[in-house]
Amino acid sequence: MSQLSTRHLLGIKDITETDIRLILDTAANFKEVINRPIKKVPSLRDITIANIFFENSTRTRLSFELAEKRLSADVVNFSSSNSSVKKGETLVDTVNNILAMKVDMVVMRHASPGAPHFLSRNITANIVNAGDGTHEHPTQALLDAFSMQEKLGDLTGKKIAIIGDILHSRVALSNIFCLQKLGAEVMVCGPITLLPKYISSLGVKVELDVKKALEWCDVANVLRIQLERQQIKYFPSLREYSLYYGINKKMLQALDKEIVIMHPGPINRGVELSSDAADSEHSIILHQVENGVAVRMAVLYLLAGIKG
Ligand code: CP
Repeated sequence: MSQLSTRHLLGIKDITETDIRLILDTAANFKEVINRPIKKVPSLRDITIANIFFENSTRTRLSFELAEKRLSADVVNFSSSNSSVKKGETLVDTVNNILAMKVDMVVMRHASPGAPHFLSRNITANIVNAGDGTHEHPTQALLDAFSMQEKLGDLTGKKIAIIGDILHSRVALSNIFCLQKLGAEVMVCGPITLLPKYISSLGVKVELDVKKALEWCDVANVLRIQLERQQIKYFPSLREYSLYYGINKKMLQALDKEIVIMHPGPINRGVELSSDAADSEHSIILHQVENGVAVRMAVLYLLAGIKG
């Protein structure tokens, strides 16, 4: 039986092309399962999974919980906002207390880059990174790749533009690693202040003009302006950002070609994407959300097969 090369999913940088293809193929099987009248399989019966979220989340937390329940795992949810973290408990103490209750796997979101890597060196459970600060969001990249493949077939040679706030985005970095491993060409586009200085060293094209990026690509993965991570002003105003980098349906129609619009959510409607573009026939945003459950089922199922 095929196995992943790792017992944790900490980032796409750490896994192989074979791992990615195994996850995507397994997700295709689980997508068929979750579209049956009976959506549940017994694959993770007797496995207990803790979803530990130190940062806000709607899609990722719900999607992991649904994936776990569809696999018949026992699920506990932890949110730092109403926990003893508020009384000064450390990350390792918090997690060790949860593990003392016989938890097998931990899905964790944390504001600090590297927090899940730190955890993986200190506890025995399988760890899944559900987003660590501005670093990586591996399951988002996997569900994005799965959704692109569904629409375009094999991604070798396909042109993917990641547009928006690249500097503060964990989705951008995980997407770059994942798409390159699958053979796609990747471009990043945004205001120069929102592009990290090291970005061209990752082998991506860099474009400052959003219209040129849209003309070049098969898929535009549009990212949110992450105001909560911006301590200083990176552009004069949201109105100006929207004027120069916002994507609307008129721009898409003017391209006179097929283009796929994606967004990891949550969308700032009217800033990076107008409602008529987000809700247009070009958009596969809700397919991404649907596919997230199947992809996370695949990740959890495959990791559960590898014990420490
Ligand atoms: N895409 C994503 O990570 O969304 P949430 O922050 O709502 O989980």
